Amino acid sequence: MFSSTSLSLSFLALLLCFSAVAESSSSKSNKPPAKIGQGYRLIAAEETPDGGLIGHLQVKQKNNVYGPDIPYLQLFVKHETDNRLRVHITDADKQRWEVPYNLLPRESPPALKQTIGRSRKIPITESSEYSGSQLIFSFKADPFGFAVKRKSDGQVLFNTSSDESDPLGELVFKDQYLEISTRLPKDASLYGLGENTQPHGIKLYPNDPYTLYTTDISAINLNADLYGSHPVYMDLRNVGGEAYAHAVLLLNSNGMDVFYRGTSLTYKVIGGVFDFYFFAGPTPLGVVDQYTSFIGRPAPMPYWALGFHQCRWGYHNLSVVEDVVESYKKAQIPLDVIWNDDDHMDGHKDFTLNPTNYPRPKLLAFLEKIHSLGMKYIVIIDPGIGVNSTYGVYQRGIANDVFIKYEGEPFLAQVWPGPVYFPDFLNPKTVSWWGDEIHRFHELVPVDGLWIDMNEASNFCSGKCKIPKGKQCPSGTGPGWICCLDCKNITKTRWDDPPYKINASGLQVPIGYKTIATSAVHYNGVLEYDAHSIYGFSQSVATHKALQGLEGKRPFILSRSTYVGSGKYAAHWTGDNKGTWEDLKYSISTMLNFGIFGVPMVGSDICGFYPAPTEELCNRWIEVGAFYPFSRDHANYYSPRQELYQWDSVAQSARNALGMRYKLLPYLYTLNYEAHVSGAPIARPLFFSFPTYTECYGLSTQFLLGSSLLISPVLEQGKTEVKALFPPGSWYSLFDMTQTIVSKGGKYVMLDAPLHVVNVHLYQNTILPMQQGGLISKEARKTPFSLVVTFPAGESEGKAQGNLFLDDDELPEMKLGNGKSTYVDFYATVSGGSVKIWSEVQEAKFALDNAWIVEKVTVLGLGRRVDASAVEIDGKPATGVSGVEVSSAEQVHFDDDKDGGKSTSVMVEVKGLSLLVGKKFELAWNMGIKN
Ligand SMILES: *[C@@H]1O[C@H](CO)[C@@H](O)[C@H](O)[C@H]1NC(C)=O
Ligand SMILES: *[C@@H]1O[C@H](CO)[C@@H](O)[C@H](O)[C@H]1NC(C)=O
Ligand SMILES: *[C@@H]1O[C@H](CO)[C@@H](O)[C@H](O)[C@H]1NC(C)=O
Ligand SMILES: *[C@@H]1O[C@H](CO)[C@@H](O)[C@H](O)[C@H]1NC(C)=O
Ligand SMILES: *[C@@H]1O[C@H](CO)[C@@H](O)[C@H](O)[C@H]1NC(C)=O
Repeated sequence: MFSSTSLSLSFLALLLCFSAVAESSSSKSNKPPAKIGQGYRLIAAEETPDGGLIGHLQVKQKNNVYGPDIPYLQLFVKHETDNRLRVHITDADKQRWEVPYNLLPRESPPALKQTIGRSRKIPITESSEYSGSQLIFSFKADPFGFAVKRKSDGQVLFNTSSDESDPLGELVFKDQYLEISTRLPKDASLYGLGENTQPHGIKLYPNDPYTLYTTDISAINLNADLYGSHPVYMDLRNVGGEAYAHAVLLLNSNGMDVFYRGTSLTYKVIGGVFDFYFFAGPTPLGVVDQYTSFIGRPAPMPYWALGFHQCRWGYHNLSVVEDVVESYKKAQIPLDVIWNDDDHMDGHKDFTLNPTNYPRPKLLAFLEKIHSLGMKYIVIIDPGIGVNSTYGVYQRGIANDVFIKYEGEPFLAQVWPGPVYFPDFLNPKTVSWWGDEIHRFHELVPVDGLWIDMNEASNFCSGKCKIPKGKQCPSGTGPGWICCLDCKNITKTRWDDPPYKINASGLQVPIGYKTIATSAVHYNGVLEYDAHSIYGFSQSVATHKALQGLEGKRPFILSRSTYVGSGKYAAHWTGDNKGTWEDLKYSISTMLNFGIFGVPMVGSDICGFYPAPTEELCNRWIEVGAFYPFSRDHANYYSPRQELYQWDSVAQSARNALGMRYKLLPYLYTLNYEAHVSGAPIARPLFFSFPTYTECYGLSTQFLLGSSLLISPVLEQGKTEVKALFPPGSWYSLFDMTQTIVSKGGKYVMLDAPLHVVNVHLYQNTILPMQQGGLISKEARKTPFSLVVTFPAGESEGKAQGNLFLDDDELPEMKLGNGKSTYVDFYATVSGGSVKIWSEVQEAKFALDNAWIVEKVTVLGLGRRVDASAVEIDGKPATGVSGVEVSSAEQVHFDDDKDGGKSTSVMVEVKGLSLLVGKKFELAWNMGIKN
């Protein structure tokens, strides 16, 4: 709603005064920051019939820095939902490139100029508030600037207007250069803008470069544009003890530099449009919910995907793979999924099998064997299709004309198979051809998922290339990554050599360097220049479509390159990292960022991709990696073997940490469901659960799984202790439930962490569903459940809550109401000396059909011991139920708020139960019989 009644005359006066100042001061030079333009002025504004706002902007003074200014712009503002505001600015006269509406479905802005005359005109001398949701849009007419405010707390979230005392660059809009800045409060904590390895941790660090352009440079490059592009940030502010979070997405796929200077943020983008989406929050969970409801909810994962994965480049033949699987079993380390990098391929060509090293009959027999155990098999697929006239995939690709073109011919590049062409996934014909190839391959090898790599896209050559005459390009390993084609740099067009150079690869190389030439063309004349960063995304969408058509199963895709919306289709790993302590640490920040990006299924190569990790590092890495949402050990061809059983000590740490992961699978799977329905990250920064506790805003060395499980790993060499932050409340060690940390106001605690120990703590007020674990998730899933109930330690009043989602995990959809899923809420209270634990069940049938039972309930933090005769199950004495045992034990608190630093509470365990998960139950007792 546009409310001119909310106009204030004094604001108008102020506005006119600002304009005058801006005009007069602009003639002076050397004012920071340097202005590229004088901005635009709003010359007309009107309301559209459906409640949108359209404005017309005119450039104030043209110049030619980075090309001529676009003279007229169209502004479109709309409150799309109660908590989402869109601000779209584009050329008023010409359609410009935008992220394709079929790839990322969303409302279209009104057609250019069409609404003029049909809608209510707004006098443009007024500056008004345009509200109608949680967010308020306001503007200043000359020079044009806009602000976004949140209604509930009045915070200004974004403000692009300059003023004399506090100058910001004005809006700039040229064909190949767009610039806009916002001011920010000094104490706002920002997160996001990736993919980027951030040495300063999850919080954006003033003056670190944030360049977004999908690039295959390894994750060891700090502060450089990596594999994915996510132009979104979350902004968390603590205002008078209250926490407020919101997010800002600039939906633009062109290369950009984002400069965060602590009190301002500037976008410098080399094409496309300004398409801002503001998500009102105000909680961090609310923000990701609003964000993923717009970009697409995270893909549901099959249960096994949450198991442990082993991969390596260099599993020379099938016998090696068989031996790896066997060795995991012998070492009693859990393993669900075995992977092949391209070793199984014939000449590194996608969708083929090497007849000598991976003979099909033997591979099929192997797969039959592991499938019967519930284990899975995944192989890699790169987008580059080998140029080889005897290769069917290539032949059909040519016949269907599916490749990206340069000067009318398929664009020639080089990747592992040698010379390749890149499929154009923006072309519907390519999508069908790709689906057909995946179908054919699945008939050849019944793989359980696909790993799409090198899709930034990576190219070993640059520019325009030819296959050299009389010279065979090496393929595969060895010097296979050195360009062997005859290539010439392309510099002749403004797409290859744009006027503004983003900091590509942190080296300021040309944007077409070692990728597809930016003047190459996709379907419908789309330039690679514009579509570059959505290549991996478009491949994920096409691959997902193909897998969904197979066997009717839930797809699993792992993609290296991602864009806004990728999480709906694929999981992500953080790419080629190093086997170093720094990289172990950085893996946490990148993982947490991807949770915010709507890609919650994420992890890093455990023990590092290269070079060889030390034994100690690999111990510590599996202790972190066992709690990555996506847990996979992967190594380079040139690294020595680093499967977890290769060292006895690592095997022991793995049995311990992965052993715990496999007990936690029902919790992880429930988190996967929550991610799918609400965008809630699986692994989260602590501020998601403790948004008002500012001490944790930058914390990047610990993380939460869900809302309550805190992982505090060792990240430094030679350490057997870890200094961990505990936000206010009681925290129970999951490995030793008698150990408790009571943190009144929040504090750091030095925890023991010998080599095989990782500290995992469960927060108060939680009911955690666990099972008994196992070596394969399918087996672990059949075991009885236990519940861990945590109350605030020793308090007489307390509440706890938890939930559990169960379904047939191979169904394509993950939802309630299909007869193949169950949802259970668990509740507990302690009050006036009585304890009560009960459940509520929705859609009981699936759980009942599977006959799952709760066998044990452990209650932590009670004030008193309990006598067995006091416990009642569904109103009847537990002593009457055969097999049920009740015991109490003392818990030791680490509690410096108490004299002497130690106090105690009581842990009560009721076991030998056989409560059906699919049937509601109630467990209750009065305390105080024995103390
Ligand atoms: C935005 O910033 C300008 C310049 O500092 C200021 O005059 C204006 O009041 C701000 N807008 C809002 C909504 O705070
Ligand atoms: C498989 O590869 C391993 C390691 O390279 C080698 O030792 C073994 O002989 C090979 N086995 C077969 C059956 O080719
Ligand atoms: C084409 O593929 C075949 C079969 O894998 C292989 O033998 C041949 O060397 C390849 N040709 C080229 C030019 O790579
Ligand atoms: C092509 O461009 C790259 C990247 O700027 C540069 O390193 C290389 O020397 C250039 N090659 C030629 C032949 O100019
Ligand atoms: C480009 O990125 C590199 C790597 O992060 C950084 O060192 C350098 O300062 C950046 N250059 C500019 C101009 O931002």
